[in-house]
Amino acid sequence: MLRLGVNIDHVATIRNARGTPWPDPMRAARIAEKAGADGITAHLREDRRHISDADIDALMAGLDLPLNFEMAATPEMQQIALRHRPHAVCIVPEKREERTTEGGLDVAGNEAMLAEFIAPLRDAGCRVSLFIGHEPDQIRASARIGAAVVELHTGAYCDLDTEGRHAERDAELEALRKGAELADSLGLEVHAGHGLTYDTVAPIAAIPQIKELNIGHFLIAESVFTGLDGAIREMHRRMAAARA
Ligand code: PXP
Repeated sequence: MLRLGVNIDHVATIRNARGTPWPDPMRAARIAEKAGADGITAHLREDRRHISDADIDALMAGLDLPLNFEMAATPEMQQIALRHRPHAVCIVPEKREERTTEGGLDVAGNEAMLAEFIAPLRDAGCRVSLFIGHEPDQIRASARIGAAVVELHTGAYCDLDTEGRHAERDAELEALRKGAELADSLGLEVHAGHGLTYDTVAPIAAIPQIKELNIGHFLIAESVFTGLDGAIREMHRRMAAARA
């Protein structure tokens, strides 16, 4: 079965827009659990623009689903992760908004630093995931440094689809397929995510090596109209149909 991790960051974005206690990301996590989500993803950014330290405390204390804790490779975040020991830690580029066109984390260019950074997380029992592009160099470097998981960045594929650049989108999809095959052949568990919608999810969900999709912004956006429960169930249905 292909798992769905629901990213609840943008529930916190709406909350923080007004400085109120609502909407509460923990409430969203509970709804996601009831709707059949397989995990919850939350990104504690260095600038705390959405998820807060208190949100992570609440999720760790009250959530029955596994938490995928997204964070930059900084000493502060490493300390927080080691204190909480979440099920999974996904390392993402520190200034990702400036690097979306470049893809994900540069593992190949920071191999020694990242190997040292992830070792204590792995020793603490966290499944370490690296958010990377589909480039073979990045995938091979991720395997060399002992990551358990790579999450392939689907943002470019989704952007090309939205822009109607179908030939380039299909080339990107093919590169993601090849990347998933390579990662799987090296013993890495393969996840994917970023920018996925009802319209873009099926070809990604159909890639047989992918075990988990992490989806956030679209689900929270859609929930304005259909409710979070309905949005998650519909996404799961599309994922299962594509996999079948
Ligand atoms: N995976 C990773 C590693 C991410 O950083 C994000 C965005 O926080 C997502 C998945 C989910 O992306 P989106 O919110 O666009 O669905």
